[in-house]
Parts: sequence; structure tokens; C-alpha cells
Amino acid sequence: MNILKEWYEKIEQADDVASLEEIRIAVFGKKGVLAGEFAKMKSAPNEEKSKIAKELNTHKTALMQQLSDKKIELQTKELYAKMEAEAIDVSMFSTKSSAGALHPVMQTMDRIVEYFASMNFTVKTGSMVEDDFHNFEALNLPTYHPARDMQDTFYFKDAMLLRTHTSPVQIRTMMATQPPIRMIAPGAVFRRDYDLTHTPMFHQIEGLLVDEAGKVSFANLKFILEDFLKYMFGDVAVRFRPSFFPFTEPSAEVDISCVFCKGDGCRVCSHTGWLEVLGCGIVDPNVFEAVKYENVSGYAFGLGVERFAMLIHQIGDLRSLFEGDLKLLEQFQ
Ligand code: DAH
Repeated sequence: MNILKEWYEKIEQADDVASLEEIRIAVFGKKGVLAGEFAKMKSAPNEEKSKIAKELNTHKTALMQQLSDKKIELQTKELYAKMEAEAIDVSMFSTKSSAGALHPVMQTMDRIVEYFASMNFTVKTGSMVEDDFHNFEALNLPTYHPARDMQDTFYFKDAMLLRTHTSPVQIRTMMATQPPIRMIAPGAVFRRDYDLTHTPMFHQIEGLLVDEAGKVSFANLKFILEDFLKYMFGDVAVRFRPSFFPFTEPSAEVDISCVFCKGDGCRVCSHTGWLEVLGCGIVDPNVFEAVKYENVSGYAFGLGVERFAMLIHQIGDLRSLFEGDLKLLEQFQ
């Protein structure tokens, strides 16, 4: 068995994984030393065969163990040498962590809240799961009103639903407090929509101001929204267009001159030079009646935060804001 003994030493002296592999083949290969010894055993006298086999098998196990220990040792050594040689080893797990940042939608939301807070508006929140009364009925949207079709949503049992807008926070605030009211309500809302410019969940900011009858006019509303839009978008033109919302009368949609083409007309503004950014109006008397307010006047407005973020950062596809792609998000740190 002396022939096997020298291999222990060879394994011990191997100084890289490649030469160890050569040794493994020389010992365990089909034509290797061990196979040779087992073959020789066949011609040995019968009474010695079992003793030789036993001995060979003991060596076989011992050599295998030594080989595998040595392999781990050499692999580790080689890995450390490689790590030292290469400045960056991207295959290694890193324990370094990096600080996150606010999502662009939340950054935009904060900026909007900051403006209205500076104008003495209080921030109110409501529940994302609403009932029919607060989401529709009290906002002058009775059960079979056609305007409900534009706000189809997700329904629960017992007439509960995922709120389609932040307007129910107006109702909740008015029912819980007395005028004067100056509030905004930021939050997530839900609709059954999905395309380039619509996602099933998005964010809105609602605004409501209520004071004594005759105190709140459309001029007040125009002033604050123009000032706000200039704060958000810089030097843009602002235009009020007559529109319809069940909870305001009169109602208007507000456009800004296109931030991409400066009003000349481009693909984003459908060559009109204008971008629609929010809805607003004078609170409809039916809404005040629903919350049992008398002798008051007020204005309200509502806007989509994602739309603002897209215009501010010139993002083309609304859905990309929800994909969690770091390549996009890291640009807003
Ligand atoms: N709730 C409306 C929507 O989701 C937005 C809106 C428009 C809110 C006009 C208002 C308003 O308060 O006066 O489409």
C-alpha cells in the first residue's frame, strides 16, 4: 500500500485547485491508482482478498476526505486572493445599505401640502374604505346619477366601497366641525381604471373653504389656485374653463399653459397649448344641506397628485410611478 501513501503527501502539498483536480483524477479516475490496486487484488490469494479490500477501502475514504478538505481550503485561499486582486467583486454579497428617499409622488404631495399649510389650511384625513353616503350621496351624487359612471370602484358588502375621490373628507369634516373651515385632504383613492394615464390607485388632494354666507367668492378661489399653480409650475398661464361637478355650482376645470411646449402646442397637450390640472367650484347648496349647514358659502377643489408629479418631472407613463423601478426612483433622491 506504499503506493497509496505518497498520495496523502501529494494532496497535502497541492497549492491550487487545478493541481488538486489532477491528483483526484490520478487517484480516483477510471485508470487511477485505486482502480489499479483493486484490479491487482483480483490476482491475490483468496484468503488475503478481504484484508486487502478492507485496507483499500479505508484508504479510499481517507483520501476522499483529505481531498475534499483540501479543496475547501484551496478554494477559500483562491477566493481571498481574487478578492484582494479585484477592486470590486460584484459576485460578493454586500452588507452596505443605502438610505432610501421619498417617492416622487410623495415629494409632490409634500410640496402641495406645504403651499396650503402656508395659507393656513389644515390637513385632514379620511378613511379609504367609505360608505355610499359620504362618497356619493352627500356630494349631490344620488344613486342613479350618471356622473357616478365615471367613478366606478371596488365594492364591499354592506354598501361600503373604496373611495373614488378625497371629496368625502369634505363631508366628514363639515359634519364634525362648524365653519369657518379651511382644509385640505391628501390621500389615496381608487377607481376601476388602468391605462397610460389611469391606475386603480392614485392620490388626490382635496381642498375646502367654508365661511359665512356672502364671504366666499369665485374670485377668492381664482386667486388661491392661480397663486398655487405658479408656486408649483413657475411662470405659467392659468385658465378657468366652465365644467360640471355635482358638488359645485358653478364648476370649473383649471388648465395651465403646457409646461413642455410653453403653450405652442405639442403631443403632450394634444396641440392645444393647455394642460388640465384640477377641478374646482363654488360648493353646491345641496352639499351644505346634506351636512346641515346654513347661511354659509364656500369653495372646493380637487387635484390628482400623480398628474402633478408627471408634469413636474416630465414622466410619460403614469404606471411607471408604481413599478418600483430603482432606475427611475433614484433620479428623485
Ligand atoms: N372629486 C373630483 C374628482 O375626483 C375632483 C374635484 C373637482 C373635487 C371639483 C372638488 C371640486 O372638490 O370642487 O374628479
